[in-house]
Amino acid sequence: MAPTKSTVFSGIQPTGELHLGNYIGAIRQWVASQDDCFNILCVVDLHAITIHQDPAQLRDACRKTLGLLLASGLDAGKCLLYIQSHVTAHSELAWILNCVTPVGWLTRMTQFKDKSQTQESVSTGLLDYPVLQAADILLFDTDLVPVGEDQRAHIELTRDIAGRFNQLYGETFRLPKPVIPTVGARIMGLDDPTNKMSKSILKDTPHHGIGLLDAPEKIIKTCKRAVTDSGSEIIFSDAPEKAGVRNLLSIYQALTAKTEEEVLADFASARGYGDLKVGVGEAIVDHLRPLQERYREIAADTGYLDSVLHRSAEKARALCETRLAAVKEAMGFLAERS
Ligand code: TYM
Repeated sequence: MAPTKSTVFSGIQPTGELHLGNYIGAIRQWVASQDDCFNILCVVDLHAITIHQDPAQLRDACRKTLGLLLASGLDAGKCLLYIQSHVTAHSELAWILNCVTPVGWLTRMTQFKDKSQTQESVSTGLLDYPVLQAADILLFDTDLVPVGEDQRAHIELTRDIAGRFNQLYGETFRLPKPVIPTVGARIMGLDDPTNKMSKSILKDTPHHGIGLLDAPEKIIKTCKRAVTDSGSEIIFSDAPEKAGVRNLLSIYQALTAKTEEEVLADFASARGYGDLKVGVGEAIVDHLRPLQERYREIAADTGYLDSVLHRSAEKARALCETRLAAVKEAMGFLAERS
């Protein structure tokens, strides 16, 4: 009998431009696993609204995000690709999990502390964000959650919530494992290598990062402006002052799938950081060119996007139903028909 495929679940927020960090840290892992695993990938609009979103922009961003996932090489015939709010079981399970999650587990999450500092008024949803994320993952028999380094704490919390539920109501949830890439798990901002590349900073500071749809000239220009240090040594080093160079080398390594030695050999004859920056910029342009071409074709075919969304959401709803019924049964909810 053929071994059953592992189930992979991951999500991405439709909040602004997808960038190279999203691609290297998460999306390319999803593409790589789609032949061997059953991939369920969700555009998490319910997470996006934990911070105010303009309605028209949210709608556009959902379509654009889905289009970019397909253009990155995800095959809708192999994976489920849907919008979170199309499957109401996410919200339903989140409520149930809220009732087994101590509030102290949420107030100590660093992402909550960071994000709430930048908000004038903090929504209850922002505090509850990781519980909804746990619900996303636990609605399916998820084995693996491929994410960037910044999501590690959320996956650990998911395991804690699942463990607590299982302890209170009996074995119901499988405990998922995070999968964090060895190269490119935290791509840093090109304007500030002490800060991770993020969609929210990119919105207001275009030279902070590389958007997946950036024109080649813009990519090269942003790389040329990348912050490095006052030295000239092109090395992989953990020294704080080499963070900018290390970030550029990691981007290059992730996109070319080379070893550290091969990467350094490519830049052995570079005359200073100028050549490094242009070399990295060109590698990004080469890598993104086919993705951008596919995106233009996909975006023009709205019927195709709609049919992917509809088919995937239907399948996801059917899969979640069984899990949700088991959760309710375990908790003692009276069934409508017994
Ligand atoms: P989001 O939308 O912030 O990011 C999507 C994915 O991209 C990764 N990522 C990065 N990786 C490397 N370097 C960076 N600079 C970088 N920036 C982002 C993230 O780690 C993530 O994997 N909470 C999640 C969305 C989510 C989710 C889930 C993820 C909701 N439910 C269930 C996994 C499972 C988020 O905000 O991702």
